[in-house]
Amino acid sequence: MLGLMDPTLAKVDAFVDGQWLNRDKRFSVRNPANGKVLADVSECSAEEVKMAVDAAHRAFPEWAAKPAAERANLLYAWYKLMMNHQEDLGLILTQEQGKPLAEAKGEVAYGAGFVQWFAEEAKRIYGDTIPGPSNDKRLVVIKQPVGVVTAITPWNFPNAMIARKAAAALAAGCTFVVKPASETPLSALAMAELARRAGIPPGVFNVVTGKDAKAIGKVLTEHPLVRKFTFTGSTGVGKALIAQCAGGVKKVSMELGGNAPFIVFDDADLDAAVKGLIASKFRNAGQTCVCANRIFVQQGVYPEFSEKLTSAIKELKVGNGLDEGVTIGPLISESAVDKVQELINESVSQGARILIGGKSTDMGKLFFEPTLLGLVSNHMPIAQEEIFGPVVPMIPFVTEKEAIQLANDTEFGLAAYFYARDIGRVWRVAEGLDYGMVGINEGAISNPAAPFGGMKQSGFGREGSKYGLDDYMEIKYLCMGGI
Ligand code: SIN
Repeated sequence: MLGLMDPTLAKVDAFVDGQWLNRDKRFSVRNPANGKVLADVSECSAEEVKMAVDAAHRAFPEWAAKPAAERANLLYAWYKLMMNHQEDLGLILTQEQGKPLAEAKGEVAYGAGFVQWFAEEAKRIYGDTIPGPSNDKRLVVIKQPVGVVTAITPWNFPNAMIARKAAAALAAGCTFVVKPASETPLSALAMAELARRAGIPPGVFNVVTGKDAKAIGKVLTEHPLVRKFTFTGSTGVGKALIAQCAGGVKKVSMELGGNAPFIVFDDADLDAAVKGLIASKFRNAGQTCVCANRIFVQQGVYPEFSEKLTSAIKELKVGNGLDEGVTIGPLISESAVDKVQELINESVSQGARILIGGKSTDMGKLFFEPTLLGLVSNHMPIAQEEIFGPVVPMIPFVTEKEAIQLANDTEFGLAAYFYARDIGRVWRVAEGLDYGMVGINEGAISNPAAPFGGMKQSGFGREGSKYGLDDYMEIKYLCMGGI
């Protein structure tokens, strides 16, 4: 790993019950910017994943029984260590995932922000008293941790997606086992090392690594000691994992795919809309679930918006995320590039026009040109599937009603964005969009204080915010009689 100030953060073994689990069988993690092997990481078998769940189960009673303030202090120590090592965590993240270093460091701060947030929320897990039906009864509600939580997290946010789940689980008093994506396990392992240094007890936070997602996923979803499973990833995989959890009637939360509309109305501030779109669309080279995926532009402002957007896209710089000034890193894999290229080719064959970009750069296949497509329509595959690449498909529309109808015409419901100034329109559109999160004159909506999550086939449950603990708690009703 290049340039770490603290090379001991470059861990390559699974982390179970407070120990590093060194396995003979290994898998390689490569830097997408140059294809070079960064590390050979331990491959966990199903048996080792079971060991991790058992360790989490053993650690649970003591962790759950700790006073909330103690759990909060340990989480706060973890947060501080993540921020103290932000530069190194960013370097690890850029090298295994590809995003530019400034963005990677931003993700580390975003992830650490959840740890800080839930350190605070741990102390605010309040219950209720309820007026009873008769004088001799008292009705009380307490909240208790669900137990062992397991998680599968994606490669696009190797730090923040773990932090957002783990911090809530640990704050609630649950113990946690995560399988990070096999493309990006190094950020997770560095986080485990910092959790260890923070004093989080053995078995409370475990990381199992491996490429056999099916075998590992089976244990994480079906093991009888697991009480809750949480996943961030594609809708297709999410559906299969929900089905696996059904047998054990496990509590489940899912952050699945998106197909975010980004609507520019004719009363919008066009410069602000361009800025918001660049922030939303090109974050992580377009590889986020909340990226603007379909850009609806009202007819009257279409030419001017398209011109301003073209100039802004020309300012973007594609390259190795470690190089100064780079704003778009490589895509994660050749198959990801193939999918993006196929969506562009299909759109062009159905009448769309490439206004800029449209292919890989001469730096290599994974470095894809930021691309603007005009004359797209909502029925084309590029408008119905998650692109997961730096491509902006623009779709013209005429009326507000049509924009809402087009925006909702998808099976997904994660994030949506719109730019408008008319206050009546702002309310009508905000209420009319079938999405869990709506950015109004804003392209960057994610932060620890906000409830992140979707509707429809984008999943269920909320992460972050005061609602983020709910998925890790049981509500217990106590009825006291004979008073
Ligand atoms: C995602 O792409 O799933 C996460 C994006 C975010 O947290 O903003």
